Amino acid sequence: EQLRILLQRMPKAELHIHIEGSLEPELIFELAQRNGVKLAYESVESLRKAYAFDNLQSFLDIYYAGASVLLKEQDFYDMTMAYLRRAAEDNVRHAEIFFDPQTHTARGVPFQTVVDGIWRACQDGPISATLIMCFLRHLSEDDALATLEEALPYRDKIIGVGLDSSEVGHPPEKFCRVFERCRQLGLHLVAHAGEEGPPAYIETALDLLNVERIDHGVRCLEDPLLTARLAREQIALTVCPLSNIKLRVFGDMGEHNLLALLDAGLAATVNSDDPAYFGGYMNANFLAAFDALPLTAAHAHQLARNSFTASFLEPEAKRAFI
Ligand code: ADE
Ligand code: ZN
Repeated sequence: EQLRILLQRMPKAELHIHIEGSLEPELIFELAQRNGVKLAYESVESLRKAYAFDNLQSFLDIYYAGASVLLKEQDFYDMTMAYLRRAAEDNVRHAEIFFDPQTHTARGVPFQTVVDGIWRACQDGPISATLIMCFLRHLSEDDALATLEEALPYRDKIIGVGLDSSEVGHPPEKFCRVFERCRQLGLHLVAHAGEEGPPAYIETALDLLNVERIDHGVRCLEDPLLTARLAREQIALTVCPLSNIKLRVFGDMGEHNLLALLDAGLAATVNSDDPAYFGGYMNANFLAAFDALPLTAAHAHQLARNSFTASFLEPEAKRAFI
């Protein structure tokens, strides 16, 4: 009970949240109505029932369908503000928010509409928040390069770039040129790797893309040399426990390797990934992991500290939180 209270109340940073994955079925229906978009589901309940996944791709298909209701700047604002308010309730003090511009520009929504709506909510919201633009890895590198060009006028609203969507078959090296360009622009770099994909993708994300953090990364433990390197270099892993169970990366939470990652000296953090789809926001992720694994108060403090240390906050801002 005391541990639950500590988990709920401790200040924390969220470093792995796809804003489109925070879109709750209720808001999807509200926006569909507001925008006259026809949905393939007739009620909030039938949509929520469709949230049963076997793997990453079956989730992504529903996630991209849900995002189809986002058309106007106000839609992006409302989605982001709902997330920031919900995160604040979980004592998240700072969030580094992923967004997927290609999901929207491919449907004819202007890049500016997407960034302006999300960014304005971050200015107005109750917690500190910054933006990381993700490239969809199932699309080409040329498409990513074109998206980066579109983002240049908004460079000051974006702190970094990431790589998400279907992992297997789309290794990090497919995006070498665009990540090199982003590095030259002084953007922070992260990538999803080692979620469904092999440990080798973690290595190429580090060596060929020069990323500073690995999103997920849980499959690193299959490679002892890689594990030792991640510990030595203190490369942060943004772990998402409920996501890993829903997408069947692990059979159940009792089999999750969060404790093993911490025991190996890795800079693991806890995050929600796509909270509207995976059954919970930050505290639900902490509680589910701590209920199923022999994690202690010391681990809780370590995870909270890791989340601020691994953030892209300025050193003074970091120190104020730690
Ligand atoms: N897009 C949204 N959530 C994702 C995840 N967990 N992995 C890859 N791409 C995603
Ligand atoms: Zn993710």
